Amino acid sequence: MEHIAFMGLGHMGAPMARRLLTAGHSLTVWNRTPAKADPLVDLGAALATDPAGAVRQADVVITMLADPAALDTVADAVVPALRPGTRWIEMSTVGPDAVRKLAERLGRAVVLVDAPVTGSTDKAAAGELGILAGGDTDGVEHILGRLGRITRTGPLGSGSALKLVLNAAVIGGVALVAEALRLADSLGVDGTTARTALAGSPIGGAVARAFADGVHFDTALAVKDLALATETARLPALEAALDHYRQAAADPALAYADISAAAARIRLA
Ligand SMILES: NC(=O)c1ccc[n+]([C@@H]2O[C@H](COP(=O)([O-])OP(=O)(O)OC[C@H]3O[C@@H](n4cnc5c(N)ncnc54)[C@H](OP(=O)(O)O)[C@@H]3O)[C@@H](O)[C@H]2O)c1
Repeated sequence: MEHIAFMGLGHMGAPMARRLLTAGHSLTVWNRTPAKADPLVDLGAALATDPAGAVRQADVVITMLADPAALDTVADAVVPALRPGTRWIEMSTVGPDAVRKLAERLGRAVVLVDAPVTGSTDKAAAGELGILAGGDTDGVEHILGRLGRITRTGPLGSGSALKLVLNAAVIGGVALVAEALRLADSLGVDGTTARTALAGSPIGGAVARAFADGVHFDTALAVKDLALATETARLPALEAALDHYRQAAADPALAYADISAAAARIRLA
């Protein structure tokens, strides 16, 4: 079985790496904050003390990092250490431009797949993520299949493009739900009644996400996703939503809280 280097052990990366380990894959893990690797090392992962050390013997590299800047930083360290023939599965939400930039740096010796995911920490732990895979997935589908259901989206970058579309709609939808509930509060409509009615309406999925528990998606990451979206196209409604999330993320207590906490703040703001 091939050896995997897994880099980025945050809220999503840690349970994903755990799935691969418990399925019997051979893993070297690296994380900027090394302590987060401890539970995986206890399960049998090898620990790399630097990114280059993680990939030197790897056949497959998986990255699950916060944003394009984090991917850039890791790529700086990793690219010179990759072996020809390595496959790199980029699973973070970084948008198609970052994927294309990484592909240019890698050249032809390394096969890059962009495979960002839908579903949050609960689905990551259960191996039930939605995986939006762009590019040539030959040789890595058996690995991705441990993490969730694969949807082939087309050429390299297409998974990341579709992921941005989905996140813009969902994160924007959560902000709209919060505003709708603020309107209900202003009109004297009972909050539970309003929430139940909205939950049964076409925006019901966003209501569920606005009140979700047992999942964790940082408000700061929502800011990142809406910024990537609004830098790409003229999206006035999403720019307004971005402003809401930026204001929430300016509060240190909310920046690294789930977006449901940001939604509660948007409702009250
Ligand atoms: N959470 C969700 O529900 C969810 C769902 C789908 C997709 N995503 C996407 O998946 C990615 C990871 O999400 P997450 O929730 O796991 O985020 P997270 O908990 O914030 O983890 C981010 C990871 O990136 C690392 N990192 C950040 N900046 C870095 C840098 N400059 N250099 C090296 N490493 C750096 C962090 O290291 P440290 O541990 O040292 O901070 C951590 O390992 C994001 O792109 C997110 O948008 C998240």
